[in-house]
Amino acid sequence: MRAAFYERPGPADEVLVLGDLADPVPGPGEVKVALQWSGVNPSDVKGRAGSRGPTLPFARIVPHSDGMGVIEAVGAGVDPARIGQRAWLWNAAWGRPFGTAAQAIVLPAAQAVPLPDGTSGEAGACLGIPALTALQAVLTDGGIEGQSVLVAGGAGAVGHYAVQFARLLGARQVIATVSSAEKAAIARAAGADLAIDYKTDNVAERVREATGGQGVDRIIEVDIAANAATNLQALRPDGLIVVYGSGQREVTLPFFPLIAGNVGLRFFIVYHLSLADRHRAITTLDGLLRRGVLQHAIALRLPLDRIAEAHRAVESGRTVGNVVLQIG
Ligand SMILES: NC(=O)c1ccc[n+]([C@@H]2O[C@H](COP(=O)([O-])OP(=O)(O)OC[C@H]3O[C@@H](n4cnc5c(N)ncnc54)[C@H](OP(=O)(O)O)[C@@H]3O)[C@@H](O)[C@H]2O)c1
Repeated sequence: MRAAFYERPGPADEVLVLGDLADPVPGPGEVKVALQWSGVNPSDVKGRAGSRGPTLPFARIVPHSDGMGVIEAVGAGVDPARIGQRAWLWNAAWGRPFGTAAQAIVLPAAQAVPLPDGTSGEAGACLGIPALTALQAVLTDGGIEGQSVLVAGGAGAVGHYAVQFARLLGARQVIATVSSAEKAAIARAAGADLAIDYKTDNVAERVREATGGQGVDRIIEVDIAANAATNLQALRPDGLIVVYGSGQREVTLPFFPLIAGNVGLRFFIVYHLSLADRHRAITTLDGLLRRGVLQHAIALRLPLDRIAEAHRAVESGRTVGNVVLQIG
């Protein structure tokens, strides 16, 4: 099968190569998926660049955790009725050497979730990381029903889903931060009541105005290193900051405002969701996909052999939405 892979960390153009690898065969409890789309996320790009360390966890890595395809074969113990099913994948390259940047993959059957007919294949390649991260941020710690929620970076791959999930799952008020008029329009179209330009406006002041001076109940944070101080001014007492990203490896937090405000801080990584949280996120997502109410923002579609360009696009931070590769 045709696949893209790397054997050392480094710049996309230097280390990513295309070649033929042995066709994988499903073992017990596994399915083989003929891939149609592969999703590229910041985490895939950081792993390839070597930002997790100079040594790779495996001698050869086919990147990308997210993907969509059709189940082509099943291993022992898996219902053969799954053959022919469209599926979206999660954690396909987490703790495993072979991800979705290939014509086929084998992985545990539970990591290939049936994709409702009304959802496009390319959207299926955006669910494993962006959508599940956004759902966990919205659903964790009692959820957002009736809450006022601030989503930092409301036009980002995760943020765009977070705005939609907050709106669809019962938030009373959804506020997003953005950095341009174009991104403000995207966040509003996703369901934000208000989009604040964090580069030109005073976010805390605008949030306090919009919440009658109270502050929001929950902040869904893409860059805690940059926004911690603002968050403490924009959050109500007893509020929660759910952190899924940081622009810096080290974060400094002011102790007294945190403790005086009874602030809750929830960090999480989507790769390590508990079984119960993953089940809740997947079930909720499935219901929303079946209702056909989600917007999926595809920023860039490229063929598999232009994978290096796709990685550079994600690395640039200039894409608005998800980057996906079509597997020919
Ligand atoms: N914990 C997890 O499990 C998990 C899961 C998915 C992603 N992540 C991490 O989360 C980050 C975002 O991922 P993504 O796929 O959503 O990337 P993305 O599509 O590039 O979106 C990031 C968004 O954040 C905005 N942004 C950047 N700095 C900001 C700031 N200081 N305040 C407010 N908004 C800001 C960007 O817009 P502007 O540049 O216009 O500001 C952009 O819209 C990455 O670091 C990724 O590794 C973590």
